[in-house]
Amino acid sequence: MNKLLTTVFALAVASVTGASFAQGVKGDALAGERKNGMCVGCHGIIGFHASFPEVYKVPKIAGQSAKYIVAALNGYKDGSRKHPSMRAIASSLTEKDINDLAAFYADYGGAAGAVPDAPVAQPSPKAAALLGAANCASCHGANFNTPMPGYPKLAGQNRDYLGVAFKAYMTPDKRLVGRNHAIMMGVAKPQADLSVNEYMAQVNETLDYIAALPGDIKTVQASRIR
Ligand code: HEC
Ligand code: HEC
Repeated sequence: MNKLLTTVFALAVASVTGASFAQGVKGDALAGERKNGMCVGCHGIIGFHASFPEVYKVPKIAGQSAKYIVAALNGYKDGSRKHPSMRAIASSLTEKDINDLAAFYADYGGAAGAVPDAPVAQPSPKAAALLGAANCASCHGANFNTPMPGYPKLAGQNRDYLGVAFKAYMTPDKRLVGRNHAIMMGVAKPQADLSVNEYMAQVNETLDYIAALPGDIKTVQASRIR
């Protein structure tokens, strides 16, 4: 195909993959796919572990909300999220790259599954206590898969990653791991009437519960589509 035809073809495809525009992100999923080469070494391998500064499975980002992907990448770029390799990667991306990658990842790996609106499992008593006290579902959705616009889907996310992310909001200024985000910092603050151990037991059982729920987010193994 000559260059002009390629461009016309790309534009035609982009105009039918409009789903992500509906989410309020002006990204071009096809352009995002071409930029994905930078990401697959970590996000395109099922079970891939980050090894620095802590060992845990990298987050599932395919099927994540496009607006949230934009917010997260901007958080690494501006330093409010301190993870070093994601900071380096995000600071190399332009605003257009970020929008394109978000549009690509939001729809990557197939349409959203039919996850029921009501949760399919009951939380343990400790998890129920925290879910009630902090009202997690009001922002992340009753099924943790249909959050408020721009907020993350959590259902089915890697359990170890959820723990690292939650604790990052408890230590916002910690070098290499902290996350400075006003809303989640307020949420993650231990309640005054609980011991630290009791609070962390509630957090752990809540994250066990959320990680086991069915959700849209996934890791798409890169080799399968090549
Ligand atoms: C060297 C491995 C590596 C590469 C390459 C990489 N990532 Fe990441 N990514 C990670 C790790 C580890 C995290 C979790 C960081 C943390 O704890 O905040 C992460 C987090 C993210 C998040 C936040 C997810 C969430 O749920 O908050 C997004 C979005 C993301 N990466 C997108 C990308 C994109 C897009 C690319 C390519 C341009 C990319 N990453 C390349 C390792 C990587
Ligand atoms: C008032 C709204 C709100 C409430 C309530 C809330 N969250 Fe969040 N949560 C957010 C937002 C917004 C983010 C994204 C923050 C960012 O960009 O770093 C987030 C991020 C997270 C993340 C990181 C996700 C990722 O992919 O990195 C976890 C884990 C999390 N929340 C768990 C919880 C749990 C557990 C509760 C209840 C104890 C809770 N949240 C209550 C709004 C909320």
